[in-house]
Amino acid sequence: MKILGIETSCDETSSAVVEDGKRLLSNVVLSSMDLHVAYGGVVPEIAARSHIEAIMPVVNQALLDAKHEQVVNTDEWATNDLWNGIDGIAVTYGAGLGGSLLIGVLTARTLAVIKNKPLYAVNHVEGHIYANFLTETPLSGYVLPKSQPQFPLLGLIVSGGHSQLVLWRDHFDYTLLGQTQDDAIGEAFDKVAKILGLPYPGGPSISKKALEGNPNAFDLPKSKMPGKYDFSFSGIKTAVLRLAQAEIGQNYSYPSFKLAERLSETQKADIAASFQRVAVETVVDKTIQAYKEFRPKSVVIGGGVAASTELRRQLAERLPLPVEYTDPKLCTDNGAMIATLGCYKAMNGQPAADSYTLEISPNLSM
Ligand code: KG4
Ligand code: ZN
Repeated sequence: MKILGIETSCDETSSAVVEDGKRLLSNVVLSSMDLHVAYGGVVPEIAARSHIEAIMPVVNQALLDAKHEQVVNTDEWATNDLWNGIDGIAVTYGAGLGGSLLIGVLTARTLAVIKNKPLYAVNHVEGHIYANFLTETPLSGYVLPKSQPQFPLLGLIVSGGHSQLVLWRDHFDYTLLGQTQDDAIGEAFDKVAKILGLPYPGGPSISKKALEGNPNAFDLPKSKMPGKYDFSFSGIKTAVLRLAQAEIGQNYSYPSFKLAERLSETQKADIAASFQRVAVETVVDKTIQAYKEFRPKSVVIGGGVAASTELRRQLAERLPLPVEYTDPKLCTDNGAMIATLGCYKAMNGQPAADSYTLEISPNLSM
């Protein structure tokens, strides 16, 4: 079973081919991030326009790369040959930016009709967890887990748009245990980076700066939510703002955009390290609590923040079972995770979507 995945929910235009839900044959990711950096965040219109330009070259490259074991002649570009052996198309239809999702979904719908393939509609957030099912690849540069996760499976999804704890009893049989009630954890990384004058996206730049700092320099508050497994990250973001103002001897009225130039590099590093420790502890505390209650066979993480070495370190230290992490390249948005979940849909007889009518669902929940 070979599925071509298409992912365009945010700034990455990505396509991949996955076989049998475990073998990664290709994964092409083109990000328009360079165009958004100057604005300090993803600009939806720019992202959508970039998807239009990139989508077909990215899909064709994913098909071509997937044939790497055979000699590919360039005439194949003009023929249907690259589609031989592809059993279906999976596409992210939500959650995400409306304009961006539209490009992926309309492309997938059109290809499904022209190439006569079934179309599988994939929830982006579920997809993040399925990146962990990839255990084999002929591609170089990927470090994959040695074995697939087992059910019951506890999944922690931590990205720029989501922070959720989910218990899967089996494929397509899951319960949402809790989620953020305000900002996502990745959003908090991005906003704190902005206060510290570190480049967007904030996750990688905070991680880098934190290496120079003392994670115990400051005590930042952990949110207490009424829902047992719910999160909140707006409080810690405000706490960082107040801390930065206090560190330069100013009160709450001092504008946040002027803070970075007054903070020393040591202060920035200590704030970054302390924030990272506490933000990660917040999700790890609830993951451990859920582990103790549900005793899953596997714990997996997904989403951009799952690339964080601090998150991986804290989980490995505190979880009583060995955790395998996937390649950081498969934590941030990619077509491989969508193709993988598409494989399980196809292999488990889940209904295909109507290629003529599938709509986007920007606010899709789990
Ligand atoms: O999953 P993703 O690529 O997009 C969404 O679905 O949101 O996640 C992007 C988020 C951003 O907030 C980014 O700052 C964060 O993931 N991120 C990281 C790291 N790499 C990306 N956060 C912490 N550490 C990282 N190494
Ligand atoms: Zn994502």
